[in-house]
Amino acid sequence: MTIEQFKKQYGIIGNTKEINDLIDITMQVAKSEISVLIYGESGVGKEVFAQAIHGFSNRADKQLVSVNCGAIPEGILESELFGHKRGSFTGATDSRKGYFEIADGGTLFLDEIAELPLTTQVKLLRVIETKEFMRLGAETVTKVDVRIITATNKDLQKEVDAGRFREDLYFRLKAVTLGIPPLRKRRSDIAQLVDHFINSYADANKRRPPKITEDALNVLENYPWPGNIRELKNTIETAIALDRDDLLDAYAFSSLHNEPVAEISNRNLPIFLKRTPEEVDRELMYRALFEIKKDLIELKDLFYQRQNEIYNENKRSQQQIIPLDELEKEAIKSALDVTRGNKRNAAKLLKISERTLYRKIKEYEL
Ligand SMILES: Nc1ncnc2c1ncn2[C@@H]1O[C@H](COP(=O)(O)OP(=O)(O)OP(=O)(O)O)[C@@H](O)[C@H]1O
Ligand SMILES: [Mg+2]
Repeated sequence: MTIEQFKKQYGIIGNTKEINDLIDITMQVAKSEISVLIYGESGVGKEVFAQAIHGFSNRADKQLVSVNCGAIPEGILESELFGHKRGSFTGATDSRKGYFEIADGGTLFLDEIAELPLTTQVKLLRVIETKEFMRLGAETVTKVDVRIITATNKDLQKEVDAGRFREDLYFRLKAVTLGIPPLRKRRSDIAQLVDHFINSYADANKRRPPKITEDALNVLENYPWPGNIRELKNTIETAIALDRDDLLDAYAFSSLHNEPVAEISNRNLPIFLKRTPEEVDRELMYRALFEIKKDLIELKDLFYQRQNEIYNENKRSQQQIIPLDELEKEAIKSALDVTRGNKRNAAKLLKISERTLYRKIKEYEL
C-alpha cells in the first residue's frame, strides 16, 4: 500500500512532509507487535492514528478497544482494565471481563495514559511484560495477547521527572513514539482539511457545499489553532450552519481573531500573524465597514432595480390596454387602406354594414 492509499483508507488528510514522514513510520510499525506511544496536542488526530495502526496491523480482524484513562474514576479503573470475580468487592454481583480480555488477540488503546494512577501503572507494566494478569479477586492468572497503543498530550518525561509516572513503564511504552505535529506547524495542510470538512459536512447535511473566499482561507491559515484539527472541523461546521448564501467569507470566521491573538501575545509564543493585535483589530473593523458598505451598495442597486421594474410594468400595462374606440378607428383605417378607399369592400372586411361604416368615418373624422 502506498502512503496515498493509506491516507485514503484511514481518512487522514494532509500532504506536508511532516504528515507523509509520519505515515511512513506508522505503516512500518503497524505491521509489528511493538508498543506505540502517540504523542500530540489535543485534537491533532491521536485517535485517528491509533485506529490506522490497528487497521493496518495483522490484528485488524480482532477488536480495537479504546480506553480513556482520564475518564474512568480511579476506584473502578483496575476492575475495568482487568475485570473482576463475582463478590470481589461490594457491588461486584457478576464476574466481568476487563478491557484486556475483551481486546484479546487485538489492540488495546490507552488514551490519556498520563492520567493512570501509579498503582495501576505497576500492574500495567506487569501485564505488558508477562502477558498475564489476575482478575480482581481471582486466584488464577488469565493469559492475554494484546498489543498496546498509548496516547498522551503531556510530556511524559516531565511526568517521570515529577514522580507522577513510572520510568520503567515509560520506557516500555515509548518503544516507538509517534509525534503528531500541531496544525500550526503544517499550515499548508489547512486548505486541504478545510475543503475536506466543507464537503463532508455538506454531504452529511444534504446541502450544497459552500464556496470559501481567499480572504477567509487566509484567516484560517493564519490562526494558531490551539485545538488543532478538531477545532478547525468545529469551526467549519459552525460557519456552514450559520451560512445563508453558500459563501464562507472572512466575516464568517471573525470570531477567531480576538481571543487567540491576545493569547499569543500574552504567552510570548511565536507570532504566526505578521500583524500586531491592534492592526488585526483595525483591519477587522475596516473589513466590517467595507462589508456594510458593500451591503448598502447592493441594497441601493436592488432598490433602483426594483423601481425600474415597477415603472416598466406600469408602462407596459398602460400600453397593453388600448381603448376600444381607438382599436375600431385603427381597424377602419387599415380596411380603407387595403381596399384603397372602396367603402363597400371595406365594410365587408369589417363585417359591418356600409351605413355603419359611413357613420364611423364621420365620427372618427377619417
Ligand atoms: N489528518 C486528519 N485528517 C482528517 N481529519 C482528522 C485528521 N486528524 C484528525 N482528524 C479529525 O479531527 C478530530 C480530532 O481527532 P482525534 O480525536 O483523533 O484527536 P486527538 O488527538 O485524539 O484529540 P484529543 O487529544 O482531544 O483526544 C476528529 O474528528 C478526527 O476525525
Ligand atoms: Mg483522542
